[in-house]
Amino acid sequence: MRKEEGGGLPRGRHLREASGIIAVAMAVVALFAALAPAYASAPEDGQGQAAADEPPGVQECLACHSNPMAQTLPSGEQFSLQINRDAFGESVHGEQLVCSDCHTGITSASDHPQRAITSARKYTLSQYELCKRCHFSNYARTLDSVHYNVLVRGDTAAPVCVDCHGSHYIQRPDQPRAAISRTCSQCHNAIFETYAGSVHGRALIDGNNQDVPVCTTCHGSHNVRDPLTSDFRLEMPQLCGDCHANRQLMGKYGISSNVLKTYLQDFHGASISLRQENEGQIAPEAVCSDCHGVHDITRPTDANSPVLKANLSVTCQKCHEGATPQFSNAWLGHYEPTLHKATLVYFVKWFYRIFIPFVLVGMTLHIILDVFRVITNR
Ligand code: HEC
Ligand code: HEC
Ligand code: HEC
Ligand code: HEC
Ligand code: HEC
Ligand code: HEC
Ligand code: HEC
Ligand code: HEC
Ligand code: HEC
Repeated sequence: MRKEEGGGLPRGRHLREASGIIAVAMAVVALFAALAPAYASAPEDGQGQAAADEPPGVQECLACHSNPMAQTLPSGEQFSLQINRDAFGESVHGEQLVCSDCHTGITSASDHPQRAITSARKYTLSQYELCKRCHFSNYARTLDSVHYNVLVRGDTAAPVCVDCHGSHYIQRPDQPRAAISRTCSQCHNAIFETYAGSVHGRALIDGNNQDVPVCTTCHGSHNVRDPLTSDFRLEMPQLCGDCHANRQLMGKYGISSNVLKTYLQDFHGASISLRQENEGQIAPEAVCSDCHGVHDITRPTDANSPVLKANLSVTCQKCHEGATPQFSNAWLGHYEPTLHKATLVYFVKWFYRIFIPFVLVGMTLHIILDVFRVITNR
C-alpha cells in the first residue's frame, strides 16, 4: 500500500500532473536525441517507483534519470546517466539531500550546463569537489596527502572522494570495519592480499575483530602520508605501541604488553628514541617492522615468522652482516632478565642496583666528612 501525501493532493492526481510535465520533458529529450545521437532517449521508468516521501527535488530529476540513459563519449566509453532510485534512497544522503544540494548548478531539466564531457575520468575529476561544500574538513585534509600529490603531478589514477566513497550510493565507510581495507584494496590489491594473511588482517576479516589495525589506523584515510620517510619510521614504535603497550587490550589476547618498554631499553630502541624528527636521514637502527614485517606480521610462533628462533639470525643479517645463531641467541629480545632467563644479566642488573646507590651514598658521606674536617681544622 502507498501512503497518501499528508494534506496535499491525492497521490494519484499529483502523479498524473507530474507525468504530464514529464511527458513534455521527455519530448524535449527525444528531440535532442534526434538532433544529436550522443543523447540517449529516456524510455519508460527504469526501476523503482517514487516513494511517497521522496522530496520533489529528487523526484523531478529521477523522472528522467532513473531510466536507462547513456551517452557515448569521444573517448569511446558508454557514459551512463542513470541513477538507481532505491540505492540512492538508502545511501547516507538519501534522506537528507536533494540532487541539487550537490549539483548546485542544475536545479531543473532546463538548466543543464553545456558541458563537453570527453572521458568519464575527466568528468569525475571535474566534479568531485562538489563534496567540499559540506565536508570541508575532510577535503582540507586530503590536500596534505600523497594521493593529492600524485594527482597534482598529473597522474589521474590517484583517488578522489568518489573513488573511495562513491557518489550516489555512499554508505558509512567504516561499517563493517573490514570495509575500510577493501576500499584501499581497489588500487592496492597486492598489499591488501598480504595484509589479509597477516595476524592483524586475518583477525579482522575472519573474526570481525575491532581491536586490530586496518589500513587507515596506520596510514590515515584522508591525509595519507608517504610511509617511507624518516619521520614515519621514527614514529613507528609509538604507532605499534599505542596498542601493544596497552595492558588491558593485550591481556585479552594473552600477548605481552611489555614489548615497547623492552624495545626502548634495548640498544636499537634506546638509539632510536634519541634521534630527532626532521633529520631527514633514514635511521639505521631496527624498528618493529624490520624484525616483524609490516603488512605480513605473523605470530612469533608461526613457522615462517621472521622472529622465530630458527629464522632470527637471518633477520639480524639484514643489518648485522654475518650474524650467526649465537649472535641472535645471545640477545634478550623482549624478555626482561629474570632469575631463570638470562641469569647472569639478571645478577649484573641487581649488582648495579645495589652497587651504584652504595657508591653514591659512600661518596656523598666521604665529601661531607671531608668538608666537615676542613671546617673544624681551621
Ligand atoms: C527531461 C529529462 C531530464 C531531467 C528532468 C533532468 N535531466 Fe539531467 N540530464 C538529462 C540528459 C538528456 C542529460 C545528458 C545531456 C546533458 O548533459 O545535458 C543529463 C545530464 C545530467 C548530468 C550529467 C552532465 C552534467 O552536466 O554534469 C547531471 C549531473 C544531471 N543531468 C543532473 C540532473 C539533476 C540534478 C536534475 C534535477 C534537477 C536533472 N538532471 C533533471 C535529462 C534530464
Ligand atoms: C552527495 C552528492 C551528490 C548527490 C546528492 C547527487 N549527486 Fe549526481 N553526482 C555527484 C558527483 C560527485 C558526480 C560526478 C562523479 C562521478 O560519479 O563520477 C555525479 C554525477 C552525476 C551524473 C552523471 C553520471 C554519473 O553517474 O557520473 C548524473 C546523471 C547525476 N549525478 C545525477 C544525479 C541525480 C539525478 C541526483 C539526485 C537523485 C544526484 N545526482 C544526486 C554527486 C551527487
Ligand atoms: C549538501 C551537503 C552535503 C554534500 C554536498 C555532501 N554531503 Fe556527505 N553528508 C551530508 C550529510 C548531512 C550527511 C549525514 C550525516 C550523518 O547522518 O551522520 C553526510 C554523510 C556523509 C558520509 C557518512 C558520514 C559518516 O559519519 O559515516 C560520507 C562518507 C559522506 N557524506 C561523503 C560525501 C561525499 C563523498 C560527498 C561528495 C560526493 C558528499 N558527502 C557530499 C551532507 C553533504
Ligand atoms: C583513499 C580513500 C579516501 C578518499 C580519497 C576520501 N575518503 Fe573519506 N573516508 C575514507 C575512509 C576509509 C573513511 C572511514 C573512516 C576512517 O577510517 O578514517 C572515510 C571517512 C569519511 C567520512 C566520515 C568520517 C569523517 O571523517 O568525518 C566523510 C564525511 C568522508 N570520508 C568524506 C570524504 C570527502 C568529502 C572526501 C574528498 C574530499 C573523501 N572523504 C576522500 C576514505 C577516503
Ligand atoms: C583509486 C585508487 C586508489 C585508492 C582507492 C587508494 N589508493 Fe593509495 N595510492 C594510489 C596511487 C595511484 C598512489 C601513488 C603511488 C603508487 O603508484 O602506488 C597511491 C599511493 C599510496 C601510498 C604511498 C605509497 C608510496 O610508495 O609512497 C599509500 C601509503 C597509500 N596509497 C595508502 C592508501 C590507503 C590507506 C588507501 C585506503 C584508505 C588507499 N591508498 C586507497 C591509488 C589509490
Ligand atoms: C600496522 C600498521 C600498518 C597497516 C595496518 C597497514 N600498513 Fe601500509 N605501511 C605501514 C608501514 C610502517 C609502511 C612502511 C613500510 C616500510 O618501511 O618499508 C607501509 C607501507 C605502505 C605502502 C607503501 C610502500 C609499499 O610497500 O608499496 C602502501 C601503498 C601501503 N602501506 C598501503 C597499505 C594498505 C592498502 C593497507 C591495508 C590493506 C595497509 N597499508 C595496512 C604500516 C601499515
Ligand atoms: C590497533 C591496534 C594495533 C596496532 C596499531 C598494532 N597491533 Fe599488532 N596486534 C593487535 C591485536 C589486537 C593483536 C592480536 C590479534 C589476535 O590474536 O587475533 C595483534 C597481534 C600482533 C602480533 C602477534 C602476537 C602474538 O603473539 O600472537 C604481533 C607480532 C604484532 N601484533 C605486531 C605488531 C606490530 C609490529 C605493529 C606495528 C607495525 C602492530 N602490531 C600494530 C593490535 C594492534
Ligand atoms: C630486533 C628485532 C625485534 C624488534 C626491533 C622488535 N621485536 Fe618484537 N619480537 C622479536 C622477537 C625475537 C620476538 C619473539 C620472542 C620474544 O618475545 O622476545 C618478538 C615478539 C613480539 C611480540 C609477541 C609477544 C607475545 O607475548 O607473544 C610482539 C607483540 C612484538 N614482538 C611487538 C613488537 C613491537 C611493537 C616492536 C616495536 C616497538 C617490536 N616488537 C620490535 C623481535 C623484535
Ligand atoms: C634494520 C637494521 C637492523 C636489524 C634488522 C637488526 N639490527 Fe641490531 N643494530 C642495528 C644498528 C644500526 C645498531 C647500532 C645501534 C647503536 O648502538 O647505536 C645495532 C646494534 C645492535 C647490538 C649492539 C652491539 C652492536 O653490535 O653494535 C646488538 C647486540 C644487536 N644490534 C643485535 C641485533 C639482533 C640480535 C638482531 C636480530 C634479532 C638485530 N640486531 C637486528 C641495526 C639492526
